[in-house]
Amino acid sequence: MKPMILLTGKTGQLGSELNRLLPKLGEVIAPDRKELDLLDPEKIRQIMRDAKPQLIVNAAAYTAVDAAETDQANALAVNAEAPRLLALEAKKIGAVLVHFSTDYVFDGSTRAPYEETDPTNPINVYGKTKLAGEQAVRSSGVPHLIFRAAWIYATHGRNFLLTILRLATEREELKIVRDQIGAPTCAADIAAATAKILTNIYGRNDNACAFRKVSGTYHMTAAGETTWYDFAKDILDEAYHASQDLSWFAAATQGRRLLARRIIPITTAEYGSRTSRPAYSVLSNSRLTQAFGITLPDWRAQLHQCFASRSI
Ligand SMILES: NC(=O)c1ccc[n+]([C@@H]2O[C@H](COP(=O)([O-])OP(=O)(O)OC[C@H]3O[C@@H](n4cnc5c(N)ncnc54)[C@H](OP(=O)(O)O)[C@@H]3O)[C@@H](O)[C@H]2O)c1
Repeated sequence: MKPMILLTGKTGQLGSELNRLLPKLGEVIAPDRKELDLLDPEKIRQIMRDAKPQLIVNAAAYTAVDAAETDQANALAVNAEAPRLLALEAKKIGAVLVHFSTDYVFDGSTRAPYEETDPTNPINVYGKTKLAGEQAVRSSGVPHLIFRAAWIYATHGRNFLLTILRLATEREELKIVRDQIGAPTCAADIAAATAKILTNIYGRNDNACAFRKVSGTYHMTAAGETTWYDFAKDILDEAYHASQDLSWFAAATQGRRLLARRIIPITTAEYGSRTSRPAYSVLSNSRLTQAFGITLPDWRAQLHQCFASRSI
């Protein structure tokens, strides 16, 4: 049976990719922020009452990590209170919830990929509010899939890939942090994996039971690991070979010539952000592979795919 799906965050990096894929699975209602402001609890209750979705996919979030430090109330409302309400309302009407979280629930003090069972200890406000969102979804009792992603980028939106490309047209030399390690993950790959998992579940007659069976938290990131510095180097390598026919690339560089020739590694301390970020936030994806038979491509292959494909 095709589910009625409520998708939030359709203007975001991940939400826009999901909005392309989920219509193959069921009927999608995808309100934007004007239609459903997640800061407004009554609006959340109302849309759940009116639309009666069977599946809620919450790709919306307060993702401005630095801004969250001084805007805690709004970050908490969007990242914790809204998912809590979505989960409680979903439980009431027998729906299920897919929710996304982050590698920033960890403090980064280890040097081995984090498992889902490892203790969380967020070191910034964004991470704390996202962890509160996870906990609220779990304690609501709604059948759920929480996918923890990391270092998300896309060929649209606000992200590291597009920032590097813009800076590369403005400066000959870029200084990029080399002491944070993670797995840059393309939003399109997370959306594809999520859609595949849901298609498998909803392809079964006992889909409600199948969803409940796999209910839980899973890490979903690109394979491999790197630093922001090495990621930036690979972005530049790809960029120097990219075709201007690639519409997103032409938009990112505004058709201007690339100037950047040198990338200088710096430390987080030298970069001077007041927001703490985990030094190491690689996530083990073995639980995802075991449960769903899915492994996301290596981060380099994902990046290359962005530059190879004209349709993204
Ligand atoms: N970005 C990353 O590096 C990263 C890393 C790990 C995990 N994640 C998680 O992955 C998920 C997707 O992230 P993303 O990078 O795709 O996010 P994004 O590009 O920043 O998009 C966020 C979406 O949430 C919407 N939104 C924000 N506040 C809202 C509000 N008050 N009411 C309604 N909608 C609101 C935004 O709408 P507007 O367009 O109107 O602002 C946008 O559609 C999130 O759960 C995020 O926490 C992200």
